[in-house]
Amino acid sequence: MTIAPIQVTNHRYRLGYHLMAPAGWINDPNGLCYFQGYYHVFYQYHPYSATWGPMSWGHARSRDLLHWQTLPIAIKPNSWTDHDGCFSGSALIKDQGLHLLYTGNNYYNRSNVNEYWQNQNLAVSYDGRHFTKYLNNPVIAQPPLDNTENFRDPKVWEYDGLYYAVIGGQSPTGLGQLLFYQTADLKHWHYLGILAQAQTAATEGYMWECPDLFRLNGQDILLISPQGIQAQAQRYLNLYQTGYFVGRLDYQQPALVHGSFQELDQGHDFYAAQTMLTPDGRRIMIGWLNMWDNEMLEQADGWAGALTLPRELVYKNEHLYQQPIAETKTLRQQVLVNKSWPTKQTVTLIQGYSQLEINLKIDLTQVNDLNLNIKMSDPPTPNHLTLQYNQTRHQFLLYNFNRPGVRIAALSSCPELKLQIFLDTSSVEIFLNDGEAVLTERYYFQNSPLITMTTDKAADVQCVIYQLSSQTNNYHYEI
Ligand code: FRU
Repeated sequence: MTIAPIQVTNHRYRLGYHLMAPAGWINDPNGLCYFQGYYHVFYQYHPYSATWGPMSWGHARSRDLLHWQTLPIAIKPNSWTDHDGCFSGSALIKDQGLHLLYTGNNYYNRSNVNEYWQNQNLAVSYDGRHFTKYLNNPVIAQPPLDNTENFRDPKVWEYDGLYYAVIGGQSPTGLGQLLFYQTADLKHWHYLGILAQAQTAATEGYMWECPDLFRLNGQDILLISPQGIQAQAQRYLNLYQTGYFVGRLDYQQPALVHGSFQELDQGHDFYAAQTMLTPDGRRIMIGWLNMWDNEMLEQADGWAGALTLPRELVYKNEHLYQQPIAETKTLRQQVLVNKSWPTKQTVTLIQGYSQLEINLKIDLTQVNDLNLNIKMSDPPTPNHLTLQYNQTRHQFLLYNFNRPGVRIAALSSCPELKLQIFLDTSSVEIFLNDGEAVLTERYYFQNSPLITMTTDKAADVQCVIYQLSSQTNNYHYEI
């Protein structure tokens, strides 16, 4: 019996300029790469329902990382080494081929999903569309002895004529850890040891998912999505976090000497981020625009999940900044607002558009203890998403009417406050001070958004708002 893929039945929450699947469920971005003139992004995909299920790799390609053409599913869970899921992994271009290294997930008995084995597998394409799994899969059959069965999400790269991978793992004592492998041909892998490990499960996680390790501005940065970090006052408030360690990778030892874990995004909906290097040398990151405990209202409409806007990573002042990639400007359709006020009042910034880029600059040199509120509401419903800035504390609070808890983003002091807000039909991404802090949210507008701003002191505010493109996904491919 052939099961038919699910269809989208209602477009009310479909996003305008974010990468989505034609229908069905998406989670992690996978295999980001540039191959034969296109950027390729794959994603954890369940095309048969709007819920997580046996994972395939969905596939899309783009010339600019913004306008996506869906391609046929790249790999499916149909081999003895991956029969319950082609889990997350990465891509490497080698010998004219686009190679995928991914985790095979296998249950001993499908009625018990708590008992599984995970291994690493290879697939390759020479045209960027059709993929063949390697006949001798798995290429890494089992985890090393100093790791549990949680053994997934390989990230592969080339260094000095050889290939290396980091794989997410867990110590037998229940600490997240990073496993390090080496190969000359992607087929025969040697285990080199544990590169890094959580100090405690409560502070750094009981399992490390979706690692990525790359060099940026003279540092080695480990991007990681740990499970199990306990909330601490204003930090680690989501079910799982994505963040980074900055350090130095010693290939000989091997070891990664690193500093403390930093959360990357302060919103409710950001996870499992991965990066790639562009041909012009930029480090670009894309994340899953969701968290497992999101209410996902779009599931009622035959789909769930999307990927974030691609963000360029910049490391400076001992901090990772995230900025919308320069190409994002090409999404601008028209200027809707361009004005400045010396204001102490509530003003309507814009109403009636679902795809917006809102830029605000506020001069902080002539004002003290300013309170600023940006409210994105959804009349006539009581729903709203509110950003509150206090100059003395120099931090933003974010309230999402539909989600529990406040989210907090602290900034370093500055003479000018900059906000860049990307609003889409059911998402909001907020970049503060050139990406020093970012908040990513799913937010389900039922009607046309109304954006207002309130200041409690006279402050000089400059505002530029663009309408953005609403049609960046093209799902019509020929098989
Ligand atoms: C992270 C994750 C990965 C795994 C994938 C399965 O969200 O749990 O560790 O490979 O999702 O879909």
